[in-house]
Amino acid sequence: MDRDRALATTFGAVVGEYEQGRPGYPDAVVDWLLPPACTQVLDLGAGTGKLTASLVARGLAVRAVEPSDAMRERLHALFPQVDARAGTAEQTGLPDACVDAVVVGQAWHWFDEAAAAREVARVLRPGGTLGLVWNRLDRSVPWVGRLQELVEAAAGGPSDEPAPRLGAAFEDLEQVTVTWTHRQSRESLRSTVASRSYVVALPDAERETLLGRVDELVEREVPPGPQVDVPYLSGCWRARAR
Ligand SMILES: C[S@@+](CC[C@H](N)C(=O)[O-])C[C@H]1O[C@@H](n2cnc3c(N)ncnc32)[C@H](O)[C@@H]1O
Repeated sequence: MDRDRALATTFGAVVGEYEQGRPGYPDAVVDWLLPPACTQVLDLGAGTGKLTASLVARGLAVRAVEPSDAMRERLHALFPQVDARAGTAEQTGLPDACVDAVVVGQAWHWFDEAAAAREVARVLRPGGTLGLVWNRLDRSVPWVGRLQELVEAAAGGPSDEPAPRLGAAFEDLEQVTVTWTHRQSRESLRSTVASRSYVVALPDAERETLLGRVDELVEREVPPGPQVDVPYLSGCWRARAR
C-alpha cells in the first residue's frame, strides 16, 4: 500500500472533527454536477454525507458507497433514508446501469482512477454523468493564505488535484470553479485542519505543534466573533458516459 492509499483510510479516526470542520457544497456546485432530469444518484466515497445532504435536500433517490465503517455509520445516522453500503469506488457492489449520476466529493484522488472510471461507467445508465468536486481554501484572502501555508508545510507541499483521466468510457469533460463562503464556528477552524488525512497521520507531537500554530493564527489573524466566513473555491469536473 503506497502512502496515499494508506492515508485514504485515516478518516474513520476523525469522524467528529470531519463533521465539525469540513464544509458541505453550495447549490451552484450541485446544480452543475447533476444532469437534467436526474432522479437516482450515487454518492461515491460519501464519507459522513457532506455532499449526500445536498442530494437528499433535492428529493433524489440517493445511494451512498463508503468503505469506512465509522464514516458510513455517521452518514446513516444523519440520513437514514439513504441506501448506504460498504464498498469501494473500484467495486461498488451495485447493479449495472442503476443510476443517472455519480458524484464524488473530495475523494476521487483516493481511488484507483482507471478501475473507478470503469466501475462508474458500469453503474451509470447510458448518457449518465460523473461529477467530481474538490473544495479548496481560497488563499487569496491573507489569513486563509497563511493558514494554508501551515497546512501545506505539514503535507510536504501543495496538493492541487490534476485533471481527472477518465478514459474512453467518458466524453465531454468540462471544468468550472465556484467561489463561495462557508460560515463556521471559530473553534471549528482547528477541526478543519485536524481532519486532513496527512494531519491525522502525523506523529502526535507534530500534530499538536501544528494545531497549536493554527490556534495562534486564529487568535491573531481571524476577524473577531464566534462565527467566521471562510472563503472556498470548489473545483468541479463533469463528464458523460458514452
Ligand atoms: C475527504 S473524504 C470525503 C467524504 C465526502 N465525500 C465529503 O465530501 O465530505 C474521502 C472519503 O473517501 C473514502 N475513500 C477512500 N478510499 C476510497 C475508495 N477506494 N473507494 C471509495 N471511497 C474511498 C474515505 O473513506 C473518505 O470517507
